[in-house]
Amino acid sequence: MGAELRCFEERCRARFPVTEVIYNCPRCGGLLECVYPGRAADAEALKRSWRERRMSNAALDQSGVWRYREIISFLDDYRTVVTLKEGNTPLLDAPRAASYAGLDRLVFKHQGFNPSGSFKDNGMTCGTTQALRLRMGRVACVSTGNTSASMAAYASAAGLQPIIFIPHGNISYGKLAQALEYGAKTFQVEANFDQILALVRTLAERLGIYLLNSINPFRIEGQKTIMVEMMDQRDWSPPEWVVLPGGNLGNISAFGKAMREMLELGLIPRSPRLAVVQAAGSAPFYELWKSSDRTRLPRVERPETLATAIRIGDPVSWPKALHEVLSSDGVVEKVTEQEIADAKAQIGLCGIGCEPASAATLAGIRKLRAAGVIARDADVVAVLTGNLLKDPDYIYKYHTGQLAAPGGEKLTPTFGNQPVVVPNDADRIARMLS
Ligand code: F0G
Repeated sequence: MGAELRCFEERCRARFPVTEVIYNCPRCGGLLECVYPGRAADAEALKRSWRERRMSNAALDQSGVWRYREIISFLDDYRTVVTLKEGNTPLLDAPRAASYAGLDRLVFKHQGFNPSGSFKDNGMTCGTTQALRLRMGRVACVSTGNTSASMAAYASAAGLQPIIFIPHGNISYGKLAQALEYGAKTFQVEANFDQILALVRTLAERLGIYLLNSINPFRIEGQKTIMVEMMDQRDWSPPEWVVLPGGNLGNISAFGKAMREMLELGLIPRSPRLAVVQAAGSAPFYELWKSSDRTRLPRVERPETLATAIRIGDPVSWPKALHEVLSSDGVVEKVTEQEIADAKAQIGLCGIGCEPASAATLAGIRKLRAAGVIARDADVVAVLTGNLLKDPDYIYKYHTGQLAAPGGEKLTPTFGNQPVVVPNDADRIARMLS
């Protein structure tokens, strides 16, 4: 049986063909997800075949997304797949970060190794392929920078026109530069992410442009494979915890769905606990988690954080995210600007590095460890969502003591590493080094 779109709301559950251009349930307005009625699998055969594909030179098999196509089987023809060989991201041991967090061991799954430098590529290969299938010539998104960079790359690779909307002045130059270079029509809007999302939805509908924000259920399918690949790399032994940063909450929705489906298919024996970490100035999901009323998101009107990737006050996917954190017996945490900045420098000192939003993971783990929620000997995987080079401005300012929080207060360069200006004089430099 094929795939269907299903309303995520329990009281609705209306179903629609995957070939309909819809982003919310036309009946009740709920979020949509891809479902695969009647799907069953021989788990051992699947694992074998996925492992064998790593030896193959076929484009689909070389993609760390499409290699796992049986778990994202929403297409009936694979000839139109647009791939830049996304996924294939490593698990990296980080002893120094582990000791900073108070853990015996910590492993990073580094999504910054993707073609456009973030986890968005896992989803975008699916989103743009679906756009081609639906014969949509133009695709659009609002973005804090990574979705737009990724969409620009995949749309251009597919021969589609990418149109992106970004909050003026609040995305890093690295990400803006990518969008320009990959050929996206780029609008810098004088509004924040949440306000621009409403604008883009109106324009997409009015002009018949395909929307590729994470509300798009096909992007979520692609992002599921981050967790499938991680389990494959661990020989199907689940960690106790998977920790990730939360912004618009698409990724946590994808990870939770992946866990539930891997359990259903018999690929893993149990689900890891999912921990979402938000920046304190943009933490509506954390507030929801702590609230006695979990039916309404206490959105943040003016979200702030230097981790601009997760500067979002009204995340659309919160109902899915809440379901996934609850189903996995997970938690939600928030961390300050100083905690993010210091954790980021520690990840750098591991020789690994990441962009600010990604470092919220290590800061969150440290806090959850101190509170006794995560045990010292726990098996923890943290997902680094974006590459170090996405935001070099932040890094330079941190190390030179110029980084200021959104409120204006200077952050302490606890692990700062100032460059030193020297004359062209071997003797003087030798003296400085001895
Ligand atoms: N980390 C990075 C580096 C991101 O770019 C994002 C989101 C997140 C974490 C949060 O993921 O939204 O699925 O909870 N960036 C989006 C964008 C919003 O437009 O690039 P999420």
